[in-house]
Amino acid sequence: MAKIQAIRGMNDVLPGQTPAWQYLEQVMRDLLSAYAYQEIRFPIVEQTQLFKRSIGEVTDIVEKEMYTFEDRNGDSLSLRPEGTACCVRAAEQHGLLYNQTQKLWYMGPMYRHERPQKGRYRQFFQMGVEAFGMAGVDIEAEILLLSRDLWERLGIADVLTLEINNLGTSEDRVRYGEALKDYLMQHHDALDEDSQRRLGKNVLRILDSKSPVTQEILLGAPKLPDFISPESSASFTQLLVILQHAGIACQVNSSLVRGLDYYNGVVFEWTTDKLGAQSAVCSGGRYDGLSKQLGGTNTPGVGFALGMERLILLLEELGRLPAEISCSVDLYISVIGEGVRQQALLLANEIRQTMPRLRVLTHCGGGKYNSQLKKAYASGARCALVLEGETELTEIKMRVLDDSGETTTLSPASVCDSLSGFFNK
Ligand code: HAM
Repeated sequence: MAKIQAIRGMNDVLPGQTPAWQYLEQVMRDLLSAYAYQEIRFPIVEQTQLFKRSIGEVTDIVEKEMYTFEDRNGDSLSLRPEGTACCVRAAEQHGLLYNQTQKLWYMGPMYRHERPQKGRYRQFFQMGVEAFGMAGVDIEAEILLLSRDLWERLGIADVLTLEINNLGTSEDRVRYGEALKDYLMQHHDALDEDSQRRLGKNVLRILDSKSPVTQEILLGAPKLPDFISPESSASFTQLLVILQHAGIACQVNSSLVRGLDYYNGVVFEWTTDKLGAQSAVCSGGRYDGLSKQLGGTNTPGVGFALGMERLILLLEELGRLPAEISCSVDLYISVIGEGVRQQALLLANEIRQTMPRLRVLTHCGGGKYNSQLKKAYASGARCALVLEGETELTEIKMRVLDDSGETTTLSPASVCDSLSGFFNK
């Protein structure tokens, strides 16, 4: 019978890789706690309508990439392709947006049926930050500072570049959309098929078209910056000034529009040239209309999400994962002789109680001294205890797992003291 394999584009994270994930998660948790952001968790499955109404009907995600199915009640449900819509839904549903500000974060898997390649998967993990109820540039600057802080803590700030753009207010976008549509209508027949369809439904999406002919036509099209209101421009300039003072270099890229419809005002992407085609590591922006669009209160929002696989690839490729994270064992306990297995387990527990942070791996399953010793060295532990005896524990040796192999004999009563002396040296 053929072996069952994982679904294409959905990855197993094997024991050799989990230390890197745990490291990244820990650095992020510490950072978010330092900024006093609070964690929120929401389901992996939501009503399909949530994503249609937020991300937009005429977007790649909703048109081509969602995992959508009918459940047994006949309701249309989708695996979440992103977290912003879910976060707004959850915050709204539980009254977190009523006359309050919120600084929230989440971490977890997202699902998009894209063509898998390096850095692009069908199940991928995001860490996202969403701030609600704050309309000013201070919160925009804060989340950018927070992201830069993360790159610094991970030691990758030198390979990331910030691209930023101002999409203007929702009204600015409507005015611009009309002008763009008028212009493109004159070139209707020359546009690619997708763009012709988008002309009626979501004209701004045409800016992302991959067709060279359409891109050529767009060269002569009206430009978004010409439609942005003075207030919105002033606030964007203010943000750029803050970033400059904070030492965050950025490039203003006026063709950065993002593939989700809910944005207005500032949008941004942190990119790298070290990952090939999948260069965006972290993306986000402001989405002041989203909550109302989903039937809730009129609450400003701004946030970003980063791709955790892409960050791990980057850390691995640049060799910037700290060496010590690959080792998960401090002490290896070898057990020679059937009769002392139970005592070995009890002693291991006593050690764990005395030194709760010590990572103690007990050898189970018997075997010869030499093969156990090999395993002890391979585990990466710094020291091994060798427990020996036929019916009761007659000998306890402590062996340093380095080239010296220095060994001392201990009495059962002195084991914990000797270990704490060794590990606290
Ligand atoms: P997004 O640009 O669609 O934005 O995704 C954010 C990040 O997730 C990307 O920059 C990338 O690192 C990662 N990512 C996206 N798709 C994949 C994939 N197929 N495989 C691996 N990584 C991927 C959002 O999702 C918005 N919700 C961000 C946001 C939060 N805006 C405001 N708040």
